[in-house]
Amino acid sequence: MTDPASPIKIGTKTLKNRITMAPTVKFAAGADGLVTDEFVHHYEERAKHGVGLIVLEATCVAPEGRLFPSQLGLWCDEQIEGHRKIADAVHKHGTLIIPQIHHGGLGTHPACGPLTSPTKVRWNNGDEEVDAVELTLEDIARIQQQFVDAAIRAQKAGYDGVQLHGCHAYLINNFASPVNKRTDRYGGSIENLARFGSEIISGIRKACGPDFIISMRVSGADPSPKEAPLIAEQYVAAGCDYLQVSCGIAEFPDVPWDESLPYTKIAALGVAMHEHFKGRVPVSTVNGFRTVEQVRYMFDHDLIDTIDLACGLLADPAFTGAILTGEPYVKCASCPQCAYGPFHAHKCPAAVKRGVEEFRF
Ligand SMILES: Cc1cc2nc3c(=O)[nH]c(=O)nc-3n(C[C@H](O)[C@H](O)[C@H](O)COP(=O)(O)O)c2cc1C
Repeated sequence: MTDPASPIKIGTKTLKNRITMAPTVKFAAGADGLVTDEFVHHYEERAKHGVGLIVLEATCVAPEGRLFPSQLGLWCDEQIEGHRKIADAVHKHGTLIIPQIHHGGLGTHPACGPLTSPTKVRWNNGDEEVDAVELTLEDIARIQQQFVDAAIRAQKAGYDGVQLHGCHAYLINNFASPVNKRTDRYGGSIENLARFGSEIISGIRKACGPDFIISMRVSGADPSPKEAPLIAEQYVAAGCDYLQVSCGIAEFPDVPWDESLPYTKIAALGVAMHEHFKGRVPVSTVNGFRTVEQVRYMFDHDLIDTIDLACGLLADPAFTGAILTGEPYVKCASCPQCAYGPFHAHKCPAAVKRGVEEFRF
């Protein structure tokens, strides 16, 4: 039995508790990818209610790899100053913060650049099936350096580390998934499937030093649920301090889970990863946590080290306070528009109930 309010060490830093905010893109930047005051306000509101760590939304390392034209960026030095405002505002409340650095790969928005992939493949770009561009070895080295450069900018902005977006069918996940049919050193064996991400991790570790958190948001199912922990082992060996688990490209019908459990099948992928690592590296899970009882169940049964909350914290930043100290909160209604749609047009019922005009605030 673990108290969610107890601290936990991640790398050389300590989170004041075990509740984290999962990354959630707002698509609220201009084409320049710059931070505006809206972002600063949004994240500070979540920090005020005591969350231990915020993983800032997917923030692109290259304009041509964005998943939407209004995605935040860390691809140039002009973007550092705005990120510093977010980091300072969140740190005032004793919360750590790391941006999730990201390249779209097969999930790139066609208005931003071509769909890219480890291997040429037909893929839906949101409107139609197209041929994705197969990356050359030169492309791979260039994009890996873009990740390292973005991490260096994150460090200059005052963030506590970075998270690599390695799930949800974006580029790092594409390499570790069944889509990857390469026959060179970036395909085939587990070591090779993980190499794209592992080399980015070692590049960041070398550039940013031992006190910079490097997290990977991994798919707990790619290239298969059985092999996903072996991919994660490669990331940890390269210097990753913290695994947050979600899903990716591969299906996972056989993952141990049944409907009587108070957590979802995606969350079960994180439970399996936690079981594999047995405390060697902290593991987090996500998906469907809407009530204090659900979150407490995970800690009462020692199923996980930290819990990530996405929609629950978008709906009401006080959800963290509810878990830690019994603060009242408004429960997320799990609207499908939030998860899948262009949510600017969507009025979050919980935010409306709280009297907040705009969902993203
Ligand atoms: C509006 C929205 C934006 C999201 N943006 C990201 C993102 O930037 N990066 C990421 O890894 N996952 C993203 N996700 C997925 C969430 O982090 C999370 O895994 C998912 O919503 C399930 O958790 P929940 O049930 O607590 O919402 C997003 C989800 C939503 C609803």
